[in-house]
Amino acid sequence: MKTVDRNLVRQATPGRGVLAAAAMLAALAAGPAAAEDAKTIAGTVCVACHGDNGNSVIPMFPKIAGLSEQYIVKQLRDFMSGRRKSDVMGPIVSQLKPEDVAPLAAYYSSQKPTAGEADDKKAVSLGKLIFFDGNEDTGVPACVGCHQPQGAGHSVYPRIGGQHVPYVMQQLKNFATGDRANDPSRYMRVTAKRMSEEEIQSVAEYLVGLGAK
Ligand code: HEC
Ligand code: HEC
Repeated sequence: MKTVDRNLVRQATPGRGVLAAAAMLAALAAGPAAAEDAKTIAGTVCVACHGDNGNSVIPMFPKIAGLSEQYIVKQLRDFMSGRRKSDVMGPIVSQLKPEDVAPLAAYYSSQKPTAGEADDKKAVSLGKLIFFDGNEDTGVPACVGCHQPQGAGHSVYPRIGGQHVPYVMQQLKNFATGDRANDPSRYMRVTAKRMSEEEIQSVAEYLVGLGAK
């Protein structure tokens, strides 16, 4: 398990919130594990950042409602092993029991995701073009092939429809720099590296308005 630099944790976005969440999990860790436990953990710990039912209202915190079970399990395990680095999620998953992972994934996967609204309406049309056609000149693939119509995702492909603009932009930048490197076959790292800043912003503005299930 990744050791966490306490100073880094304090500097991480909601600072004390992370430590409080981690402490709360440590307190809960005594109880039996099951679906009811997952609901309790979701409603007392995860809710602080991911919102009610996983529909975060804070743009840097991802909506996790309606992501596939398979994808959520993979991400939680990647945070646990350090394959996906996050100064915020790292200390939280270090307090989760391995048997909490599957029920938490089942819970959030069954929640209904909400759509948002683009701030930059002009960017949406370029974003739509990228989503359906990619950019042949620079080798950016169409997103729809893997992320599905409406960005709904399935199995290992995450739902990206309705996701917050700043979160999507940050993840694409993290893939481009290699700060996020947990994508199988490097596919997202290669894709994001080929995208311009304008394409990244535009596709995020298009995605946020895509519908709930
Ligand atoms: C203090 C805020 C905070 C709390 C509490 C929190 N998270 Fe997160 N979570 C984040 C942030 C920030 C990210 C994005 C990390 C990154 O930058 O890669 C994230 C990412 C995730 C992801 C990956 C989402 C994706 O689209 O790839 C999952 C799954 C997740 N969290 C589940 C949980 C669960 C389950 C809990 C409760 C046990 C929880 N989180 C508690 C802030 C939080
Ligand atoms: C060949 C399939 C494929 C294509 C094409 C593809 N993606 Fe992905 N994408 C993935 C996979 C798989 C992941 C999850 C990686 C992991 O396991 O963490 C992902 C993850 C992401 C994430 C992170 C989601 C989250 O919740 O953290 C974003 C954002 C994203 N892709 C956007 C795009 C965009 C925009 C395009 C088009 C320009 C695109 N993807 C094209 C397969 C693909």
